[in-house]
Amino acid sequence: MLRPEGQKRVTVMHMRTKKWARPELQACPFFIDAIKGPEAKTGALRGTWRPRFARPELPLHIEMGCGKAVSTAKMIAENPEINFIAADLSADILGVARRNITDACGENPGNVQLVMADICFVDQMFGPQEQAERIYIHFCNPWTEHPKHEKRRLTHPRQLMQYRTFLKESGEIWFKTDDDTLFEDSLAYFELCGFEPVTIGRDLHADGFTPNYISEHEEKYTALGIPIKYGVFRMKPETPDFDPTRFRLTPGVKKEAIERMNRGIILSHGEE
Ligand SMILES: C[S@@+](CC[C@H](N)C(=O)[O-])C[C@H]1O[C@@H](n2cnc3c(N)ncnc32)[C@H](O)[C@@H]1O
Repeated sequence: MLRPEGQKRVTVMHMRTKKWARPELQACPFFIDAIKGPEAKTGALRGTWRPRFARPELPLHIEMGCGKAVSTAKMIAENPEINFIAADLSADILGVARRNITDACGENPGNVQLVMADICFVDQMFGPQEQAERIYIHFCNPWTEHPKHEKRRLTHPRQLMQYRTFLKESGEIWFKTDDDTLFEDSLAYFELCGFEPVTIGRDLHADGFTPNYISEHEEKYTALGIPIKYGVFRMKPETPDFDPTRFRLTPGVKKEAIERMNRGIILSHGEE
């Protein structure tokens, strides 16, 4: 197909269809379909999550875009005192995630829910009742090809302002990426959406940051010699007053927000 001059080809990697994935997910006692299931996009799932776990009172961690759950499976197995929700868009990918989780944790671990969901509509699935302690966003798609696509990033203010609604007070977002542009833009997003930096670094493995569970994409980019950028961001109590649906990250806004973020790290270490 001919493309207009100068237009780049966007290559989207699709996983080969796995015929076994959907039947296995439907039979899985810890799987929820929040895209086509009866409660999808109705808001009816809000507040229903904790009772699904063997011990509802445990802290809740949610992973957005878990992929094949390579790191998630290990995290679930090694942290029985935490309840995990792992969410992704694709049934084929979640089929592999389910197998990885059951291989690591047995057929019905009491501390995980696997969810097929579009995170763009995450506030229809989770509400203030969830009181999540932590959100993980690991190697989300960077969407750097066109400025119009930025709003699809899982760290975009459209998303961060939704996450605020179900994180508990001082809840945290743990973020990792290989992508420099996504990382720097995200620092500004976090600052503008009322998150303060607990820690930020541009070479996770050299820094020896722990605890760290290596995901499929982390392994891939590390093998290519690309340093992993990371940060932990804590939610401040005051909700910023702006409309994320109209948000555009201009260079001026980005520079000032990153400066404020860097000042925040120094203050958080008590080095005023
Ligand atoms: C690059 S992969 C990273 C997977 C994994 N976190 C890792 O580090 O290996 C990004 C994942 O995010 C999922 N994803 C992208 N957009 C999403 C959305 N709007 N809702 C849910 N999942 C999404 C994709 O299906 C894919 O599995």
